[in-house]
Amino acid sequence: MCGIVGYIGQKNTKEILLEGLKELEYRGYDSAGIAVLSGGVFNSFKATGKLINLEEKTKEFQTKGFAVGIGHTRWATHGKPTELNAHPHVGESSYVVHNGIIENYAQLKKNLIDEGVTFLSQTDTEVIVHQFEKNLKTTKNAFDAFKKTIKELEGAYAILLVTKAEEEKIFFAKNGSPMLVGINEANEKYFASSDAPLIGHATDVNYFEDGDYGYVSADEIIIYDKNDTKKAPHFAKLATNKLSAQKDGYRFFMEKEIYEQSDVIADTLLGRVSEKEVLFEELDASLFEGINEIKLCACGTSYHAALTASYLFERYAKVKSTVEIASEFRYREPIMSKETLFVVISQSGETADTLETLKMAKNAGLKTLAICNVDNSSMVRLADATILARAGIEKGVASTKAFATQVTIFWMLSLYLAKRNNTLTQAAIEKQLELLRALPLCVKVQDSMHERIKRLSKRYLHGHGFFFIGRDIFFPLALEGALKLKEISYLHAEGYPSGEMKHGPIALADPELFTIALLPEHLLYEKSKSNVEELSARDSTICAISPLAFDKADDFIETKKQKDYMLEFFEMMVVVQLLSLEISVRLGNDVDMPRNLAKSVTVE
Ligand code: F6R
Repeated sequence: MCGIVGYIGQKNTKEILLEGLKELEYRGYDSAGIAVLSGGVFNSFKATGKLINLEEKTKEFQTKGFAVGIGHTRWATHGKPTELNAHPHVGESSYVVHNGIIENYAQLKKNLIDEGVTFLSQTDTEVIVHQFEKNLKTTKNAFDAFKKTIKELEGAYAILLVTKAEEEKIFFAKNGSPMLVGINEANEKYFASSDAPLIGHATDVNYFEDGDYGYVSADEIIIYDKNDTKKAPHFAKLATNKLSAQKDGYRFFMEKEIYEQSDVIADTLLGRVSEKEVLFEELDASLFEGINEIKLCACGTSYHAALTASYLFERYAKVKSTVEIASEFRYREPIMSKETLFVVISQSGETADTLETLKMAKNAGLKTLAICNVDNSSMVRLADATILARAGIEKGVASTKAFATQVTIFWMLSLYLAKRNNTLTQAAIEKQLELLRALPLCVKVQDSMHERIKRLSKRYLHGHGFFFIGRDIFFPLALEGALKLKEISYLHAEGYPSGEMKHGPIALADPELFTIALLPEHLLYEKSKSNVEELSARDSTICAISPLAFDKADDFIETKKQKDYMLEFFEMMVVVQLLSLEISVRLGNDVDMPRNLAKSVTVE
């Protein structure tokens, strides 16, 4: 996701900013930029793609003596990953970098345009710098103008702004997005959106709190809190281990990525969910013309997301939907019809089997769509259309947040198609949109839930197998839960449709067979419950995941009462992810790099 750095001092500012951005590389980005103000002159550079492109562009540029500088790595959310949309954004004599979302940017932008301001980018960020310069004209004082600007912004942000109006300061504000300032004995000041870029440079750091704003110069750190009361910085010693800093305090990348799901889902929804409908500006309506079937093709976790999609497409949009495992599909001489939209789903966009099926579909003349987390990947380049998941870089080999964004996209796409096909009433669509908007909050990890799962996990370190069971879309979730557990605990686990257990697998039931039962309130509850009762009667050990108490369970993980089964799906997704994580931790396994696995499978 996006990253911010800033520096005030005498050293080579350009090098320090670029080095800082490099430390943020692990978060993923599609463009980067810096702005340096020294001796009354601004120098700014931006480049898309890898940091090396920015390094190349700044090769000739050197800073000598005192300078202030800001830098940014961007993961596109508002507007495409172009150089114009890359930060820093410029006004007449100021530059800004920003993480987060300015929710009221459209209104601010409209007002500024009406007043004659020209915008260069499609981002929400650019309004900040223009609003600041507008305020500067009336306040005549940079800090007052900055303060006024912050009060006019709604949303989440971490902001750094530099301006010729006060050349030796960096103005900052933080609300909902992380930001810290670091110091050292040489009287240098470093800003960043996480610890990693500061390690080795700063010795002590102050983590800003929500609502904090102010400015930093070579001699001062001035902070005001959300009530406009001045406060002293609160310094803590900075950690010295870079890898642990990249994990933002979490024990593993997988854990961090589970916790990030709320944010990445919010990013995935951004600009795509209005009051009335789902919008995909990246899709041309003609993509669906003449289509009477959707075929989804993927591997592993992405295949589970595809399976979930097939239920939603048929239920909400009444489009026939079939799902294929890519490694099977490519060799079974499938019959392909031009009335079929071929959809590939891939976190990496490089999985060899999935890529091959995309090529087959293209060669057969089918229309193709990629759901992918990596812009410019092979699948994105090849498909006719792409919807980008906005999960940010996923480091843990076991996929978590990518799956969350894939299913979010499929839920949105099913509503988009329902509207197009007139298969849901407007009222029903609006109800679904309201649920979608509730999603980021629903997947926020509750401390009490995590603690409970940590405690429970000690009972599930042995046994002769796990069955994750569920019905309807909770069946693909059961598959996904079982895959997560297999991958990182090395325990045998299967995902099964609840109603299918009695057709064979129930023969395995005994106290050493662990059943992880997904029991949502709002989808086939009674039916699923009676399937679990059958297993309980045969003495399988049952761990029920449900908002409703279940007296036949040995263990019970209580989820929240939700309005709809989709929200229950996402909350239970977090539960099964955490359960696998905690079992793996107790077994002493390498959670982020499980044995025998690679993050991207580019071979057959
Ligand atoms: C499981 C996992 C894998 C991938 C699969 C496909 O946690 O990550 O099963 O989902 O290898 O990868 P992508 O989605 O990159 O095509």
